[in-house]
Amino acid sequence: MISTFPTAAEVYERLKARLARVVPDVELRIKAEIAAEILRLKAERNALILAHNYMEPALFYSVPDFQGDSLDLSRKAAQTDKDIIVFCGVRFMAETAKILNPSKTVLLPAKKAGCSLAESITAEDVRRLRQQFPGVPVVSYVNTYAEVKAESDICCTSSNAVAVVASLRSDRVIFLPDEYLASNVARETGKRIIFPTRLPPATRFEELEYEVIGWTGRCEVHEKFTVQDIENARRQFPDVAVLAHPECSPEVVAAADFSGSTNAMIRYVKEHAASRYLILTECAMGDNIAAANPGKEMVRMCSIRCPHMNEITLEDTRDALRFNRYVIEVPEAIARRARVALERMIAIG
Ligand code: 13P
Ligand code: SF4
Repeated sequence: MISTFPTAAEVYERLKARLARVVPDVELRIKAEIAAEILRLKAERNALILAHNYMEPALFYSVPDFQGDSLDLSRKAAQTDKDIIVFCGVRFMAETAKILNPSKTVLLPAKKAGCSLAESITAEDVRRLRQQFPGVPVVSYVNTYAEVKAESDICCTSSNAVAVVASLRSDRVIFLPDEYLASNVARETGKRIIFPTRLPPATRFEELEYEVIGWTGRCEVHEKFTVQDIENARRQFPDVAVLAHPECSPEVVAAADFSGSTNAMIRYVKEHAASRYLILTECAMGDNIAAANPGKEMVRMCSIRCPHMNEITLEDTRDALRFNRYVIEVPEAIARRARVALERMIAIG
Protein backbone atom coordinates (compact mmCIF):
# COMPACT_ATOMS: atom_id res chain seq x y z
CA MET A 1 0.00 0.00 0.00
CA ILE A 2 1.27 3.50 -0.84
CA SER A 3 1.72 5.66 2.24
CA THR A 4 -0.37 8.87 2.25
CA PHE A 5 1.72 10.41 5.01
CA PRO A 6 4.58 12.77 4.22
CA THR A 7 8.00 11.30 4.90
CA ALA A 8 10.42 12.95 7.35
CA ALA A 9 12.40 14.17 4.31
CA GLU A 10 9.29 15.82 2.85
CA VAL A 11 8.41 17.44 6.19
CA TYR A 12 11.98 18.67 6.49
CA GLU A 13 11.83 20.31 3.04
CA ARG A 14 8.57 22.04 3.97
CA LEU A 15 9.96 23.25 7.29
CA LYS A 16 13.18 24.39 5.65
CA ALA A 17 11.28 26.48 3.11
CA ARG A 18 9.47 28.26 5.94
CA LEU A 19 11.98 28.31 8.77
CA ALA A 20 15.51 28.25 7.34
CA ARG A 21 16.08 31.84 8.53
CA VAL A 22 14.63 31.23 12.00
CA VAL A 23 15.58 27.70 13.16
CA PRO A 24 19.02 25.99 12.78
CA ASP A 25 19.09 23.26 10.12
CA VAL A 26 20.14 20.52 12.53
CA GLU A 27 17.08 21.20 14.66
CA LEU A 28 14.79 21.17 11.64
CA ARG A 29 16.01 17.69 10.71
CA ILE A 30 15.34 16.31 14.18
CA LYS A 31 11.94 17.98 14.43
CA ALA A 32 10.93 16.83 10.95
CA GLU A 33 11.35 13.18 12.06
CA ILE A 34 9.03 13.70 15.00
CA ALA A 35 6.55 15.77 12.99
CA ALA A 36 6.31 13.04 10.32
CA GLU A 37 5.44 10.52 13.01
CA ILE A 38 2.79 12.85 14.44
CA LEU A 39 1.21 13.31 10.99
CA ARG A 40 0.96 9.52 10.63
CA LEU A 41 -0.55 9.08 14.10
CA LYS A 42 -2.93 11.97 13.49
CA ALA A 43 -4.34 10.30 10.38
CA GLU A 44 -4.48 6.83 11.96
CA ARG A 45 -6.34 8.11 15.02
CA ASN A 46 -8.62 10.50 13.10
CA ALA A 47 -7.39 13.42 15.19
CA LEU A 48 -7.44 17.18 14.78
CA ILE A 49 -4.46 19.18 16.02
CA LEU A 50 -5.05 22.76 17.14
CA ALA A 51 -2.06 24.96 17.96
CA HIS A 52 -2.04 28.30 19.72
CA ASN A 53 0.04 31.07 18.14
CA TYR A 54 2.61 30.68 20.96
CA MET A 55 3.76 27.22 19.87
CA GLU A 56 7.40 26.91 18.88
CA PRO A 57 8.01 27.37 15.13
CA ALA A 58 8.77 23.75 14.16
CA LEU A 59 5.54 22.58 15.80
CA PHE A 60 3.51 25.58 14.61
CA TYR A 61 4.47 25.06 10.96
CA SER A 62 4.36 21.26 10.76
CA VAL A 63 1.53 19.33 12.44
CA PRO A 64 -1.51 21.55 13.23
CA ASP A 65 -4.69 21.54 11.19
CA PHE A 66 -5.34 25.05 12.48
CA GLN A 67 -3.27 27.68 14.24
CA GLY A 68 -4.79 30.70 15.95
CA ASP A 69 -5.76 32.72 19.00
CA SER A 70 -8.07 31.50 21.76
CA LEU A 71 -11.28 32.57 20.05
CA ASP A 72 -10.34 31.11 16.72
CA LEU A 73 -9.31 27.76 18.19
CA SER A 74 -12.40 27.44 20.37
CA ARG A 75 -14.52 27.82 17.21
CA LYS A 76 -12.47 25.18 15.41
CA ALA A 77 -12.80 22.82 18.38
CA ALA A 78 -16.58 23.31 18.46
CA GLN A 79 -16.91 22.52 14.74
CA THR A 80 -14.75 19.44 14.25
CA ASP A 81 -16.14 16.00 13.51
CA LYS A 82 -12.80 14.22 14.17
CA ASP A 83 -12.67 11.70 17.04
CA ILE A 84 -9.81 13.35 18.91
CA ILE A 85 -8.73 16.95 19.47
CA VAL A 86 -5.08 17.39 20.43
CA PHE A 87 -4.75 20.86 21.90
CA CYS A 88 -1.27 22.35 21.63
CA GLY A 89 -1.93 25.15 24.08
CA VAL A 90 -2.67 25.37 27.79
CA ARG A 91 -5.19 23.55 29.98
CA PHE A 92 -7.95 26.18 29.97
CA MET A 93 -7.93 26.05 26.15
CA ALA A 94 -8.21 22.25 26.10
CA GLU A 95 -10.99 22.42 28.69
CA THR A 96 -12.82 24.93 26.51
CA ALA A 97 -12.56 22.51 23.57
CA LYS A 98 -13.98 19.69 25.71
CA ILE A 99 -16.86 21.84 26.97
CA LEU A 100 -17.78 22.95 23.44
CA ASN A 101 -17.47 19.49 21.87
CA PRO A 102 -18.07 17.04 24.74
CA SER A 103 -18.33 13.83 22.72
CA LYS A 104 -14.70 14.18 21.53
CA THR A 105 -11.60 12.93 23.29
CA VAL A 106 -9.55 16.04 24.05
CA LEU A 107 -5.84 15.56 24.70
CA LEU A 108 -3.46 18.11 26.24
CA PRO A 109 0.14 17.03 25.50
CA ALA A 110 1.43 18.19 28.92
CA LYS A 111 0.10 17.14 32.29
CA LYS A 112 -0.29 20.64 33.73
CA ALA A 113 0.26 23.52 31.26
CA GLY A 114 -1.50 25.96 33.56
CA CYS A 115 -1.90 29.74 33.34
CA SER A 116 -1.39 32.36 36.06
CA LEU A 117 -4.67 34.04 35.12
CA ALA A 118 -6.71 30.84 35.30
CA GLU A 119 -5.16 30.10 38.68
CA SER A 120 -5.91 33.58 40.07
CA ILE A 121 -9.64 33.00 40.71
CA THR A 122 -12.00 30.29 41.97
CA ALA A 123 -15.70 29.60 41.52
CA GLU A 124 -16.20 30.59 45.18
CA ASP A 125 -14.62 34.00 44.44
CA VAL A 126 -17.16 34.56 41.67
CA ARG A 127 -20.07 33.54 43.89
CA ARG A 128 -18.88 36.01 46.54
CA LEU A 129 -18.67 38.84 43.98
CA ARG A 130 -22.22 38.07 42.83
CA GLN A 131 -23.38 38.44 46.44
CA GLN A 132 -21.52 41.75 46.78
CA PHE A 133 -22.88 43.09 43.47
CA PRO A 134 -26.31 41.49 43.02
CA GLY A 135 -27.72 41.50 39.51
CA VAL A 136 -24.47 42.63 37.84
CA PRO A 137 -23.55 40.32 34.93
CA VAL A 138 -20.26 38.42 35.08
CA VAL A 139 -17.88 38.35 32.10
CA SER A 140 -15.06 35.83 32.47
CA TYR A 141 -11.97 35.86 30.33
CA VAL A 142 -11.59 32.51 28.59
CA ASN A 143 -8.31 32.16 30.54
CA THR A 144 -10.23 30.63 33.47
CA TYR A 145 -11.04 27.07 34.49
CA ALA A 146 -14.41 25.44 33.81
CA GLU A 147 -15.73 25.98 37.37
CA VAL A 148 -15.29 29.75 36.98
CA LYS A 149 -16.87 29.79 33.52
CA ALA A 150 -19.82 27.87 34.99
CA GLU A 151 -20.44 30.74 37.44
CA SER A 152 -20.27 33.35 34.65
CA ASP A 153 -22.89 34.81 32.33
CA ILE A 154 -20.60 35.04 29.33
CA CYS A 155 -16.94 34.50 28.41
CA CYS A 156 -14.68 36.67 26.31
CA THR A 157 -11.23 36.52 24.76
CA SER A 158 -8.78 39.32 24.11
CA SER A 159 -10.20 39.69 20.60
CA ASN A 160 -13.85 40.24 21.57
CA ALA A 161 -13.76 41.63 25.14
CA VAL A 162 -15.08 45.08 24.20
CA ALA A 163 -17.86 43.61 22.02
CA VAL A 164 -18.87 41.17 24.78
CA VAL A 165 -19.12 43.96 27.38
CA ALA A 166 -21.15 46.09 24.93
CA SER A 167 -23.49 43.14 24.20
CA LEU A 168 -24.63 43.02 27.83
CA ARG A 169 -26.32 46.43 27.67
CA SER A 170 -25.78 46.74 31.41
CA ASP A 171 -24.62 49.85 33.29
CA ARG A 172 -22.18 47.71 35.23
CA VAL A 173 -20.24 44.51 34.59
CA ILE A 174 -18.04 42.25 36.67
CA PHE A 175 -15.02 41.51 34.46
CA LEU A 176 -12.72 38.68 35.64
CA PRO A 177 -9.94 37.84 36.37
CA ASP A 178 -7.33 39.88 34.45
CA GLU A 179 -6.71 43.24 36.11
CA TYR A 180 -4.95 44.60 33.04
CA LEU A 181 -7.35 43.33 30.37
CA ALA A 182 -10.26 44.72 32.44
CA SER A 183 -8.46 48.07 32.83
CA ASN A 184 -7.71 48.20 29.10
CA VAL A 185 -11.34 47.43 28.23
CA ALA A 186 -12.51 50.08 30.73
CA ARG A 187 -10.11 52.61 29.25
CA GLU A 188 -11.17 51.84 25.68
CA THR A 189 -14.86 52.18 26.51
CA GLY A 190 -14.51 55.18 28.85
CA LYS A 191 -15.72 53.22 31.92
CA ARG A 192 -14.46 53.57 35.50
CA ILE A 193 -13.13 50.45 37.21
CA ILE A 194 -12.83 49.35 40.84
CA PHE A 195 -11.04 46.36 42.38
CA PRO A 196 -13.05 45.27 45.46
CA THR A 197 -10.20 43.17 46.90
CA ARG A 198 -8.05 46.32 47.06
CA LEU A 199 -10.67 48.36 48.93
CA PRO A 200 -11.06 48.36 52.73
CA PRO A 201 -13.46 45.60 53.92
CA ALA A 202 -16.02 48.15 55.15
CA THR A 203 -16.27 49.97 51.78
CA ARG A 204 -19.82 51.01 50.89
CA PHE A 205 -19.84 50.32 47.16
CA GLU A 206 -23.02 52.34 46.63
CA GLU A 207 -20.98 55.45 47.47
CA LEU A 208 -18.44 54.81 44.68
CA GLU A 209 -18.69 55.67 41.01
CA TYR A 210 -17.76 52.82 38.68
CA GLU A 211 -19.02 50.74 35.79
CA VAL A 212 -16.53 47.84 35.82
CA ILE A 213 -15.75 45.59 38.78
CA GLY A 214 -12.39 43.91 38.31
CA TRP A 215 -10.25 41.21 39.89
CA THR A 216 -6.50 41.32 40.41
CA GLY A 217 -5.26 38.36 38.39
CA ARG A 218 -2.36 38.97 36.05
CA CYS A 219 -0.59 37.18 33.26
CA GLU A 220 2.84 36.40 34.64
CA VAL A 221 4.33 37.05 31.19
CA HIS A 222 2.64 40.25 30.02
CA GLU A 223 2.80 41.98 33.39
CA LYS A 224 6.59 42.04 33.03
CA PHE A 225 6.73 44.33 29.99
CA THR A 226 7.28 47.98 30.92
CA VAL A 227 7.04 51.40 29.31
CA GLN A 228 10.80 51.60 29.85
CA ASP A 229 11.21 48.53 27.59
CA ILE A 230 9.31 50.34 24.86
CA GLU A 231 11.36 53.51 25.28
CA ASN A 232 14.61 51.54 25.17
CA ALA A 233 13.55 49.73 22.01
CA ARG A 234 12.49 53.00 20.34
CA ARG A 235 15.83 54.58 21.24
CA GLN A 236 17.70 51.65 19.69
CA PHE A 237 15.35 51.22 16.68
CA PRO A 238 13.64 54.58 15.98
CA ASP A 239 11.52 53.00 13.20
CA VAL A 240 10.13 50.16 15.36
CA ALA A 241 6.34 49.59 15.53
CA VAL A 242 5.34 48.44 19.02
CA LEU A 243 2.65 45.76 19.42
CA ALA A 244 1.37 44.90 22.91
CA HIS A 245 -1.09 42.17 23.92
CA PRO A 246 -4.03 43.57 25.98
CA GLU A 247 -2.86 41.49 28.97
CA CYS A 248 -0.06 44.11 29.29
CA SER A 249 -0.54 46.99 31.72
CA PRO A 250 -2.64 49.98 30.55
CA GLU A 251 0.52 52.11 30.59
CA VAL A 252 2.28 49.70 28.21
CA VAL A 253 -0.80 49.46 25.97
CA ALA A 254 -1.06 53.27 25.87
CA ALA A 255 2.62 53.57 24.90
CA ALA A 256 2.35 50.94 22.14
CA ASP A 257 1.37 51.62 18.53
CA PHE A 258 -1.14 48.77 18.54
CA SER A 259 -2.79 46.38 20.98
CA GLY A 260 -4.76 43.30 20.07
CA SER A 261 -5.12 39.54 20.41
CA THR A 262 -2.35 37.30 19.11
CA ASN A 263 -4.20 36.91 15.78
CA ALA A 264 -4.64 40.69 15.55
CA MET A 265 -0.91 41.21 16.14
CA ILE A 266 -0.07 38.71 13.40
CA ARG A 267 -2.45 40.49 11.03
CA TYR A 268 -0.98 43.88 11.93
CA VAL A 269 2.54 42.84 10.87
CA LYS A 270 1.23 41.31 7.65
CA GLU A 271 -0.72 44.43 6.73
CA HIS A 272 1.79 47.14 7.67
CA ALA A 273 4.88 48.29 5.85
CA ALA A 274 7.21 48.95 8.83
CA SER A 275 10.39 46.91 8.62
CA ARG A 276 10.71 46.35 12.42
CA TYR A 277 8.21 45.33 15.12
CA LEU A 278 8.59 45.00 18.88
CA ILE A 279 6.35 42.08 19.82
CA LEU A 280 5.32 42.34 23.49
CA THR A 281 4.00 38.84 24.02
CA GLU A 282 5.39 35.29 24.26
CA CYS A 283 8.63 35.22 22.32
CA ALA A 284 7.90 32.14 20.17
CA MET A 285 5.18 34.08 18.39
CA GLY A 286 7.83 36.52 17.18
CA ASP A 287 9.62 33.60 15.51
CA ASN A 288 6.40 32.46 13.86
CA ILE A 289 5.65 35.95 12.56
CA ALA A 290 9.24 36.43 11.37
CA ALA A 291 9.02 33.16 9.43
CA ALA A 292 5.85 34.32 7.65
CA ASN A 293 7.17 37.82 6.90
CA PRO A 294 10.57 37.68 5.26
CA GLY A 295 12.10 41.14 5.12
CA LYS A 296 10.43 42.26 8.37
CA GLU A 297 12.36 42.05 11.61
CA MET A 298 10.77 41.04 14.92
CA VAL A 299 12.35 42.54 18.02
CA ARG A 300 11.65 40.21 20.96
CA MET A 301 12.35 40.01 24.66
CA CYS A 302 12.93 36.29 24.93
CA SER A 303 13.96 36.31 28.59
CA ILE A 304 10.23 36.73 29.27
CA ARG A 305 8.57 33.43 28.44
CA CYS A 306 5.33 31.62 29.20
CA PRO A 307 6.49 28.49 31.05
CA HIS A 308 3.07 26.90 30.55
CA MET A 309 2.86 27.26 26.78
CA ASN A 310 6.47 26.13 26.60
CA GLU A 311 5.57 22.81 28.21
CA ILE A 312 4.07 21.74 24.88
CA THR A 313 6.66 20.17 22.59
CA LEU A 314 6.59 18.10 19.43
CA GLU A 315 7.75 15.08 21.48
CA ASP A 316 4.84 15.48 23.91
CA THR A 317 2.40 15.98 21.05
CA ARG A 318 3.58 12.69 19.51
CA ASP A 319 3.27 10.95 22.88
CA ALA A 320 -0.21 12.39 23.40
CA LEU A 321 -1.33 10.53 20.28
CA ARG A 322 0.75 7.43 21.02
CA PHE A 323 -0.40 6.97 24.60
CA ASN A 324 -3.73 8.83 24.51
CA ARG A 325 -2.67 11.36 27.11
CA TYR A 326 -3.49 13.62 28.90
CA VAL A 327 -7.26 13.23 28.62
CA ILE A 328 -9.24 16.34 29.58
CA GLU A 329 -12.45 15.70 31.49
CA VAL A 330 -14.97 18.26 32.72
CA PRO A 331 -17.86 17.03 34.92
CA GLU A 332 -21.08 17.43 32.93
CA ALA A 333 -22.81 19.47 35.65
CA ILE A 334 -20.07 22.11 35.35
CA ALA A 335 -19.61 21.75 31.59
CA ARG A 336 -23.33 22.37 30.95
CA ARG A 337 -23.23 25.77 32.67
CA ALA A 338 -19.81 26.73 31.29
CA ARG A 339 -21.03 25.88 27.77
CA VAL A 340 -23.80 28.47 28.03
CA ALA A 341 -21.21 31.19 28.83
CA LEU A 342 -18.92 30.04 26.00
CA GLU A 343 -21.66 29.68 23.41
CA ARG A 344 -22.93 33.19 24.19
CA MET A 345 -19.42 34.46 23.52
CA ILE A 346 -19.07 32.53 20.26
CA ALA A 347 -22.43 33.85 19.07
CA ILE A 348 -21.08 37.40 19.46
CA GLY A 349 -17.93 36.64 17.48
P1 13P B 1 -5.03 35.23 22.56
O1 13P B 1 -6.46 34.89 22.71
O2 13P B 1 -4.82 36.65 22.15
O3 13P B 1 -4.35 34.27 21.66
O4 13P B 1 -4.33 35.15 23.99
C1 13P B 1 -4.23 34.00 24.75
C2 13P B 1 -3.23 34.11 25.80
O5 13P B 1 -3.16 33.30 26.68
C3 13P B 1 -2.35 35.25 25.75
O6 13P B 1 -1.41 35.14 26.72
FE1 SF4 C 1 -1.56 32.40 30.74
FE2 SF4 C 1 0.03 34.48 30.31
FE3 SF4 C 1 0.84 32.08 29.58
FE4 SF4 C 1 -1.12 33.30 28.22
S1 SF4 C 1 1.01 33.94 28.37
S2 SF4 C 1 -1.11 31.18 28.91
S3 SF4 C 1 -2.17 34.39 29.88
S4 SF4 C 1 0.44 32.76 31.69
